[in-house]
Formats: sequence, structure tokens, C-alpha cells
Amino acid sequence: MKVARISLFAALLALTASLTYAQPAVEVRVQNLLDQMTLEEKVGQMTQITLEVVSVGEGPGIREPLMLDRKKLREIILDRGVGALFNVGTHAHSLESWNEIISEIQDVAREGRLKIPVLYGIDAIHGATYTRGATLFPQSIGMASTWNPDLLRLASEITAVEVRASGIPWNFNPVLDSGRQPLWPRLWETFGEDALLTTAMGVAYVKGQEGDANDISAPDRVASCLKHYIGYGHPVSGKDRTPAWVPDHYLRQYILPPYIAAVAAGAHTVMVNSGDINGVPVHINRYLLTDLLRGELGFKGLIDSDYADIAKLYQNHRVAADNKDAVRMAVMAGIDMVMVPADFSFTDDLIALVREGKVPMSRIDEACGRILKLKYQLGLFDNPYPDKSLKARFATPEAAVINLRAAQESLVLLKNEGGILPLKKSAKILVTGPTANRLSVLNGGWTYTWQGNREDLLPKDKLTILKAIAAEAGANRVSFSLGSTYDSEADIAAAVKAAKKADVVVACLGEEPYCETPGNIGDLTLPQSQLDLVLALQKSGKPVVVVLLQGRPRIIRPIVDGARAILLAWLPGMEGGRAIADVLFGDANPSGRLPVTYPRSPNDLVLYDHLWTENTGGTNRFNPQWPFGFGLSYTTFAYSDLKLDKSSAARGEVITASVTVTNTGQVAGLETVQLYLSDLVASIAPPNKRLKGFRKIELAPGESKTVYFTLSGEEMSFIGLDGKPVIEPGEFRVTVADLSSNFTLK
Ligand code: BGC
Repeated sequence: MKVARISLFAALLALTASLTYAQPAVEVRVQNLLDQMTLEEKVGQMTQITLEVVSVGEGPGIREPLMLDRKKLREIILDRGVGALFNVGTHAHSLESWNEIISEIQDVAREGRLKIPVLYGIDAIHGATYTRGATLFPQSIGMASTWNPDLLRLASEITAVEVRASGIPWNFNPVLDSGRQPLWPRLWETFGEDALLTTAMGVAYVKGQEGDANDISAPDRVASCLKHYIGYGHPVSGKDRTPAWVPDHYLRQYILPPYIAAVAAGAHTVMVNSGDINGVPVHINRYLLTDLLRGELGFKGLIDSDYADIAKLYQNHRVAADNKDAVRMAVMAGIDMVMVPADFSFTDDLIALVREGKVPMSRIDEACGRILKLKYQLGLFDNPYPDKSLKARFATPEAAVINLRAAQESLVLLKNEGGILPLKKSAKILVTGPTANRLSVLNGGWTYTWQGNREDLLPKDKLTILKAIAAEAGANRVSFSLGSTYDSEADIAAAVKAAKKADVVVACLGEEPYCETPGNIGDLTLPQSQLDLVLALQKSGKPVVVVLLQGRPRIIRPIVDGARAILLAWLPGMEGGRAIADVLFGDANPSGRLPVTYPRSPNDLVLYDHLWTENTGGTNRFNPQWPFGFGLSYTTFAYSDLKLDKSSAARGEVITASVTVTNTGQVAGLETVQLYLSDLVASIAPPNKRLKGFRKIELAPGESKTVYFTLSGEEMSFIGLDGKPVIEPGEFRVTVADLSSNFTLK
């Protein structure tokens, strides 16, 4: 009896404690706060300002190391109620410096009437890109080449820790734009041309950032940001932020699926495409932002504008007469927060619009409420300060090991004639070309700076390709001659002379780092001076191994036949030099597969899932340099026994496909098994095939594994002209490697 009474007492105590200490639901806290806020304070929350505005100095004169201007900080936070700051216009800061910057910002926020913490966001797109010494992974196009979502998830988890260790809780990534326009200078920020691969990678990335349960108050998680919703990757001209013409059913078939999945995976924020689709800038497209994203996809989080996109509405798109008109259109279409980025034009105009009754207060409460909710979810109201204990988890040796593995798996071996690779470490090697001895080219844009081209800032302890080759083969066996810069001859004759003394030449070609609009090009072909270098070297009679460091598939047709091996490295990150040397010498077996179609000619940019009319033979033959999904290994794989568990299925029935893969070579290797489905006849011209499943497996020499895939109605459907999924009876073909088998859907 006594025992029972004590436990009742304990239960009562626990109940009282929980009643006293448990926080009310986030929604209640948000409403309480909204009830106390003025219009000015609410619109201030919707305003996002760049860090430079509150830094000491201006423009190129910003003080280094960065110092916050207390007066400006107090003005924007206390007087104007700014809710969010973002990015870095200068360059990466140390972890300590970030901790100080964020603490100072939050100190000022705590002096405010309502003590609302500031939300800081950053582009940590391949690691904590703006924190010195961070673990910088391959860029997304390289991560997609791994076809390994589990590995991307690990990379994303490490990124979340390192960003949060910097005191920053919000990462503007993943980029879910589809990479279906090879000229586009942001192709390397995407996971390639296929919706299924992008979906798998996007979901893995979101979960790595936010955790299984999306509890972003956890000290080592950040809020992710799906961008750039939607259709940004489709500029017809290939130039950044230029028009896209995308029919709704195409958008839903090829572009929307990764967003559907990533919203379902719980991503907390979305950033909007700066461009226009079908003549309507996405920033004012209520159908896309509100009806589709919120209504159909059920997105409940925060919608952020992209950089200066209100101004672009009247300056570039010319759909608004002035800033005020643009603000009204964007806010009423569904934008919650605006990356202004440097003044109060948005804030002042929005306040006036509400006073004039042109924007209802309910819309302001909705947008501001979402921002406050995110701040609560991130735990910022409880503790907005950097967690200093995370320093111990910043750029650890374990993270570098995962990074090296990611870099190795991202490399795509496109050619290896006569098994020239792997090279013997005893060989005399000439290393040449503009990308051989630079770290910046391994990393690309969003690396310490926006453009990623400040070689002088990058860590001195990381290895370029040249240094990594010398470290593995011995410096006395390795020579270097530049041969060509990115776009003009350096000294090709000297490189040819040096080649004569070597056994093999490793020619490192590619692109100078770039980001966004500055990366526009008018020709997808690699600059002539680089092709000339390789052609001259090929004439020397020495075997030439080409290594490509680039963010998009630059055309290299003139040098393909004469090259003995071609290794596409994309932008493999800070361990990229080591990873490339590991693959060249056979310490790692390449397993990357192309996440895009590699074109042969600049005006022939047909993708793998083209319609049948794009491949009718003769002059209209689908003829890429290398197909989507392609990549070689140092071992060989044989496919056999492709089986379907039924040859005909009723609607709603699931078909199971199985296939056996055998490692028929001498070394262990990773193979990505890819299943494609063709709907042979459909009421809208069907694509010749689409990827419907993939699995990356490891096989020891001689080992076989059977891989299973299921095909349900979802895989068999396509989007009709009315924007809805349709399943039509008829014949389908399943293809895995060079095997295929048909089934009939009744
Ligand atoms: C880019 C975004 C980026 C933003 C903030 C814009 O120019 O389009 O991808 O997140 O800047 O840095």
C-alpha cells in the first residue's frame, strides 16, 4: 500500500514538473509572439540582409579579418527588426571568427524588445564552404556520379556538423534543379539529368542535414533548403537566369519529382528560381509557389526568395513597374522571406502596401509566423549561440577518410585503351595542363569565395593532382610542364619536349572555377589551346592519359580517339588530388557512372531519355560521346538471367525483376546496376527509356550477386497532358545492361 502511495506521489510530481517546465507547442509560442508584434517588426522578420551590410568597411574595402560594425548591427536588428542575415560576400572565415560573428549578432538580437534570434543562412553546398579548413566534398555532380546515396548522406551529416559548429543553423542546399541543359553554368550544383537519381540523392542529403525525424533543434543538424524551385535548370539558351519554356506535364514528369520526395522527407525551407518559366517569373507565380508547392505537395515550411529577385522583377523581367509593385506580386504569390539583399526597399514598400490595404495583414502573419516557427524548431529561442563543443567534431580525420572515399567513387573512367591504367609507380610521368597543380579546380565555385577561384586562400596541406602523383610515385619520377592555360597556349613545345623523356603523360584539362552567371559560355567545346596541347602530345607517340576537372561535360571529341585513357573527375573536392592519384595508380578501383549524357558535338545535346523521334537513324542518330550511366572499372562485370516474375500483369500488380551480376575480372569492384523501363506505346510520345531503379553493389573477383527490383504502377505511369499520372495498358520493356525482357500490362 505504501509503495502504491509513493508511486502515485511520484507520478503527481512528474506531472506537475512536466506542466511547469514543458514548453507550449511551437504553434502556440508563435501565436503568442505574433500577438505582441507590430507590423514593422513582422515585416522586419521577412527581411534578409547580407553580412557585408553590417561589416566594418564597404565593398572591396571590407575590413579583414571581418569585423562587425556594432552601430550598423544595432540599426538593422533593433531599429529595423531584420529577421535573417546570410552568406559571405568576401571569403571564408575561421571557425573561431564565425563563432564570434554569430555570437555578436545574437547578443544584439537579445537586446531587442522581443528578443527574437536572428536566422543565419549560408551556401554550404559541398561542405562548410565558408569556414576555413572545413571538409570539402565533391560537388553534387560528382556525388551523383557515385550513385551512392548512403555516402552522400554521410557527407551531408558531416556538413551539417561543420556548418552548425560555425554557429550557422541554415544551409541553402540541396540543389534539386535537374541538370538537363549541359551549357548551364550551375550544372555541377545538380545531381544530373535524371529525376530518379536526383530524388534519391536529394532525399539522402535532406536526411543528412536534418536527421531521420527532422529534429533540427539537435545541436548537430541544420535546416536544409530545396532550391531553386522550380525549372531553373532549363534555360533554353544555356545562360544562367534566362527563360525556360516548360509545359506543365513535362515539369511534373522530369522536374517536380525530387521536390515531391524532398518535401515529403521533411525539408524545412525552399528557395525560389530567379528565372521565368513560360514568361512568368517564378517569384510571382502563385500557381507554382502556393497552389502546387503548398497545396499539392503539402509544403509547410518557409519560402525564401533568391538573391535580389524583387529588384529583378522590374529591372530584368519587367513584369512590375517598380519595386513596390514587385514586392506586392511576390508576397501575394507566396514568398515569405526576401533576400533583398542590402537595403530596406522591400521592408518599406511592404509596410506601405499593408497600410494601403494592398497586402492583407493575414498574409504578413502567415509569412512571419513561418519564420518564427523555423526559429523555434531550430531551438534558437532557447539558445541562439554556437555550440563550442562541436569544434571537436570539425574537420576530423574520420571526415577526411569519408571525403576521400566520396572523391574516389565520384571519378568516372571513360576510356582505358589496352588497360593503360592503372599506371606503374615506377613509370616516368609528365604531368601537364592548366588543372594539374591547383586546388581551386578540384573544388569549383562556392569554395572559400563565391567564384571559388582564390587559389591563395586554400589550405596548403591539401594535395593538387601533381603533388599527389609525386607523393605516390616519388618526386624524382614526375615532371611538370604547363603546356596551356585554361584558354591560351603556355608552351606546348616545351611540354612535348618533356613528354619525350617520360613513359606516360597525364594531361589535366578542364575549366577555371566559376559560379552562376559569370560561368556562362557560348561554346561547350573545351578551349582550343587545351585540345591543341593534347593533340601535340599524342603526336609525340607517348601514351596520353587525360584527366578532366570540369563542372559540365565540355566537348573533347578531337582528342578522344588519340587518348589512351580518359578520367572524368568533375569537381572532386579537397581530397580530389589524392583520389585521382589513387585511381591512376590502382590504389582505388574507379566506380563512378555518368549522371548526365556526355555530348559529342556542341549542337547535339540530346539526353538519354529522349523521345524515339530523336533517334531515327542516319543524320538523326542518338550519338553521344558517352551515354548516361556509363563508366569503366579495372574489373569486368557480366550480366545474366534477367527475369521478370510474370510476363503479364493486371493493373495494380507489382512485377519483380531480377538479374545476376558477376565480377569476371581480377580485382574487387563496385558496380551500379541500373534498370530502365520503356513504355513501348503511349498516348503521349513516350521516352525511349527511363531509369526506374539502381543499386550499387560490391563484388569480389569471381563473385556473383542477384539484384531485385520492383516495378509498380508508379514506375509504369507517366504524366498526361492534364498534369495527372496515367497508366496505359500495353507492352513494356525492361532493360538492364545489354539484357532486356518484355511484359504486358493488361
Ligand atoms: C544563388 C543561390 C544562393 C544565394 C545566396 C544566389 O545568387 O542563386 O543559390 O543560395 O545566392 O547566396
